[in-house]
Amino acid sequence: ADQTYDYDVLIIGAGPGGYVAAIRAAQLGLKTACVESRETLGGTCLNVGCIPSKAMLHASEYFDAAANGSMAKMGVLVEPKLDLEAMHAQRLDAVKQLTGGIAFLFKKNKVDWKKGHATFVDAHTVDVGGEKITTKNVIIATGSSVTPLPGVEVDNDKQVVVDSTGALELKAVPKKMVVIGGGVIGLELGSVWRRLGAEVVVVEFLDQLLPGMDMDIRKEAAKIFKKQGMTLMLSTKVTGCTVKGKTATLTIEPAAGGEASTIEADCVLVSIGRRPNTEGLGLDKIGLETNKRGQIETDHDFRTKVDGVWAIGDVIPGPMLAHKAEDEGIACAENVAGQTGIVNHAVIPGVVYTWPEFAGVGLTEDEAKERGAVKVGKFPMLANSRAKTNHEPDGFVKVIADAETDRVLGVWCIASVAGTMIAQAAQAMEFGATSEDIAYTCHAHPTHSEAIKEAAMAVTGKPIHI
Ligand code: FAD
Ligand code: NAI
Repeated sequence: ADQTYDYDVLIIGAGPGGYVAAIRAAQLGLKTACVESRETLGGTCLNVGCIPSKAMLHASEYFDAAANGSMAKMGVLVEPKLDLEAMHAQRLDAVKQLTGGIAFLFKKNKVDWKKGHATFVDAHTVDVGGEKITTKNVIIATGSSVTPLPGVEVDNDKQVVVDSTGALELKAVPKKMVVIGGGVIGLELGSVWRRLGAEVVVVEFLDQLLPGMDMDIRKEAAKIFKKQGMTLMLSTKVTGCTVKGKTATLTIEPAAGGEASTIEADCVLVSIGRRPNTEGLGLDKIGLETNKRGQIETDHDFRTKVDGVWAIGDVIPGPMLAHKAEDEGIACAENVAGQTGIVNHAVIPGVVYTWPEFAGVGLTEDEAKERGAVKVGKFPMLANSRAKTNHEPDGFVKVIADAETDRVLGVWCIASVAGTMIAQAAQAMEFGATSEDIAYTCHAHPTHSEAIKEAAMAVTGKPIHI
């Protein structure tokens, strides 16, 4: 360690960005501390994000399969009964085990966990609850929080108007849930409560769900969620909300303007996006400004404009995803240690963990076409033997390749296990694969992944099974 400082590197925030950066920094021999204001490590992802939402999605999927006849189709007759308390208990247990796991990894790697809120005193001094800690480098990994919607006040305790954290903890299944924002959180948590018996209405400002994904995926998503019984109000905005007792009344109007109307619900989920956490960090003390979107800008090495101060994860530009934050954490720690850490931001998969799952990596067809001529291959899951056998007819795989070089530019997929399937597409793209490379890779039969091979074969017009 550098003798003039307490630490070589101090990381602010112990989410997937921060805790991973801390472990890698310690592995590289740097004296490392990580400051976290929550009681437990793991950040948004482990405490109130990825992990608890997946615990509820997984459990509710079992309930739904029993309730909607999918199990009966396979000769398994059960009448499901909901024990919501037990469902919540297994969620909390998953969170406890995984956050505890990070505490174990910190000990194992000799990362000092500093509990409390961190504020900059200067670029090499951070205050944590009155303790002034000096450090050669600081990595800001403070993550993000829910974007508020003016006029719609969230009160998670009352369980009427909630954000994602409140929606994970509802003590009773709502009769009617209005989801404001048809993005990832709205569709995942809306799915949980729909499966458990709620009537779910999604109000989305844009004319399609899931902004950022390929248009074919977005259009198909609307069809699939409607078929599952969700009501979609696209091109619609919420302009206000009043709560009386257990009933919320929302005022809505067409996004383009027009006549207002009202809609009532006993639960409203506000899920219109997340914004970076920089308040109370004392960025003014080090002369660091945020951009128009409140993010901290960095260069390709994750250095900010201030010498010795770095930033990663949800607090910097790019998709707000745990795996993106983790990879940046590793690369940034390596750069702090004088190595060459790189993240290829062109190949970051995104997955929506509904049923079926929606996943993609690389460019959408529209984005790819803006850059030049493309060839596209599509293959329906209906023609995939495993999906067909498992009674999973919905979905397709779409491979987008450069028309001239055949290099794969993007892969999009809807399937029960799309999130697992997309990994091979990301790896192929990371290796600079052509669609032919994928088409000539032997895939095990019968697997859902064969649909990726078939879609790659379809790029040159020669799929076998359609
Ligand atoms: P965070 O995880 O937000 O961690 C930052 C930490 O810093 C927090 O614990 C915070 O308490 C702490 N902190 C902030 N300021 C200070 C300070 N001044 N002093 C001390 N500590 C501070 N992503 C996926 O990839 N897959 C998913 O399935 C997924 N599901 C999600 C579901 C939900 C409901 C939500 C809300 C998010 C989900 N995400 C998912 C997004 C994912 O959680 C984030 O992208 C990820 O957590 C970002 O990691 P991070 O390390 O940048 O920040
Ligand atoms: P989002 O950005 O995915 O979706 C927000 C939606 O709300 C958009 O479709 C937007 O058009 C709409 N919207 C915005 N203002 C509106 C308004 N006033 N009225 C109606 N609709 C409005 O944000 P979301 O779902 O809140 O999630 C936040 C972040 O968390 C995401 O960016 C995602 O990166 C991350 N996340 C990732 C998950 C995953 O990887 N599976 C799961 C959950 C969250």
